[in-house]
Parts: sequence; structure tokens; C-alpha cells
Amino acid sequence: MQDLFGRSITYLRLSVTELCNLRCQYCMPAEGICKKRHEDMLTEEEMILAVTAAAQLGVTKVRITGGEPLVKRNILSICEKAAAVPGIRELCMTSNGLRMPELAPSLRAAGVRRVNISLDTLNPERYRFITRIGSLEDALRGIEAALAAGFERVKINTVLIGGFNDTEIRPLAELTQRYPLDVRFIELMPMMDRYVFGPEAFVSCDLVLRALPELRMEGEDGVARVGRLPHAQGRVGLISPLSAHFCAMCNRLRLTADGKIKPCLHAPLEYSVRGQTLEEMRETFMRAAAAKPERHDCLSYDARSQASRPMNRIGG
Ligand code: GTP
Ligand code: 5AD
Ligand code: SF4
Repeated sequence: MQDLFGRSITYLRLSVTELCNLRCQYCMPAEGICKKRHEDMLTEEEMILAVTAAAQLGVTKVRITGGEPLVKRNILSICEKAAAVPGIRELCMTSNGLRMPELAPSLRAAGVRRVNISLDTLNPERYRFITRIGSLEDALRGIEAALAAGFERVKINTVLIGGFNDTEIRPLAELTQRYPLDVRFIELMPMMDRYVFGPEAFVSCDLVLRALPELRMEGEDGVARVGRLPHAQGRVGLISPLSAHFCAMCNRLRLTADGKIKPCLHAPLEYSVRGQTLEEMRETFMRAAAAKPERHDCLSYDARSQASRPMNRIGG
């Protein structure tokens, strides 16, 4: 499946739920999540049908997202079935890690090859502040469980926030020297109208380069520029949606838990696949790909995303 700008769509981000066991400040409004009616959300069968349709159109990689995918009751079954869809070569997941201690071995067995886990700070009070309700100890136990389960790769996602965790760049990056994992710093994206953060929070990933002069940059991996610290087991990545557009290499579509294909994270466009047959879904995917904008507008504290949903209802 090609879009109008010559980009091949090979990557589908599948959000399996809007619900989460955390309430991260940059992801969800303070009032939390309004639980939807069951009949408004995709069923497991529809999700697998959509993955099948996407695979028939050339998608080879599926990343399961949320909300938090591990709070979904039938998550193992969804993973097992998605991994078995002909053409899907890579099944990955992005999670906050809290339920990894119970689920990591079963996820691995279900066919999940790689996991990305969110961790914005190594300070317990700051972790509680940013997640509103979480405990750092639980998050660290989740990361250890993921490392022990034998995934092909474990990546840590750190949203870089000026005035919050910009003093922790070094200790976070040094996790790559202590453990076989990657740490990626992500520029904070202005998804919602109201945040506790002011303009100073929206900093560039260049801060990471300044804090780590010994970081040797090696190239690109998906949306990240990656480098390595001396003697590190994993890589340090920079994801810069604000300071450097990566839209030209965007190879992805998103499917939300309520059944909408989003051609672009930062555009309001949505195409529903709910209740559709395999053939209809294929057509909807093609229409969504054809509507993929060339790039999103510049984002900043004053220029918010046009996504029309908070992040927990998109999946990152
Ligand atoms: P890999 O398969 O490991 O390359 O994963 P990924 O980086 O695609 O996925 P992940 O869920 O870990 O996302 C990391 C960060 O990149 C999150 O903050 C996402 O919101 C952001 N991100 C992912 N895709 C896009 C995109 O198309 N545009 C923008 N602006 N940000 C994105
Ligand atoms: N800006 C940048 N990254 C975000 N994430 C969630 N909300 C935002 C935001 N506003 C990240 C999470 C998770 C990934 C799916 O997206 O930290 O790692
Ligand atoms: Fe939950 Fe992830 Fe959003 Fe945090 S960023 S509230 S862990 S979905």
C-alpha cells in the first residue's frame, strides 16, 4: 500500500484499549478516562480482521498499543492471533510495563518479539507525579521482567520534559551501560489543550546531545536517531517530532480501539472499519493511506496537535 507521496505503508499501530492503569500527565486529561460502551469498541475478531486486511495490503509489522495493552483481558489471544496472520513478520508492543511481571513470558510465547516500555524518571516522587497514581518500583520490576523474558529487544521510552526530567538525562541514558536495553528520549508533543506543563517543558532532544558529549551517533532506526555511549549494551535514541520532522519516512497507519484508522497522528482524519467485512476493510485502509498528509504542521506549546484525541485514545 502506497500513499500519494511514494511512502510504503508497512507498519500498523493497533490500539487495543483506551483504558490504562496509569494517568500520565501528558497523555490523559486530569479527569481520567470515560469508559466506552462495549459495542462502540472493536471486537477481537474485528481487530484480527483488520490486521489481516492490512497484511494483505503489505503491512508486515504490527505494534500493539493502548491505553495500556496489558489491562486488556484478552491481550494474549489478540497477540497470538495477530502474530499468526500471514504476512505479519514482526509483532511488537508498547506498554507501561506494570503488568509485565505476570505477563511477559506469556507474551513472548504468544509471539511478541520486541517491547517498548515507558519510564520518564528514576525518582520515585517524580514517577508518582508524572503518572499521577503509579509506583516507580512497579515500573522497574516490569522492565526487569521484560529483560528476563527474552524479548529480542527492550526499549525504554522517556518523554523529555524541561523542568521535570532534563536533569536525569545521564542516569537514564546510562541504563544502556548497565542493561541490554535501548533508551529513547522523546520530545513532548502538545496533544491536549490543558497541561500542567508550561512552555519551558517543550524542549529539544538536542539537550541529550549536550548532556552526553561522549554519545557517538550511529544513524537512524525508525523515527529515532540513535547513538551509543562507551561500553554500552544498548543504544540511546532521540525522537524529535518537534525539532525535526520525520514525516517523510513515515510508514505507518494507526487503528484506534474504537475502530478508526488514523492516517496521521497529528491530523483529525479518521476512517471507521467497525462492522466491515475483510474486503471493505481493505478498501478503507486504501482510502486512509491515500489521505495520509505529506507532513503535519509544526508543533509547539502554542501550536497544538490537530489529533482531536488525547494520546491514550490513539496509542502513541
Ligand atoms: P519501534 O518499532 O521500536 O521503532 O517503535 P516506535 O518508536 O514506532 O513506537 P513507540 O510506541 O515506542 O513510540 C515512541 C514514540 O514515538 C511515542 O512517543 C510515539 O508517540 C512517537 N511516534 C511513533 N510514531 C510516530 C509518528 O508517526 N509521528 C510522531 N510525531 N510521533 C510518533
Ligand atoms: N508526547 C510524547 N510522547 C508521548 N507518549 C504519550 N504521550 C506523549 C506525548 N504527549 C509516549 C508514551 C509512550 C508512547 C506510546 O508515547 O510515553 O511511551
Ligand atoms: Fe497509560 Fe501510557 Fe498514557 Fe501513561 S502514556 S497514561 S502509561 S497509556
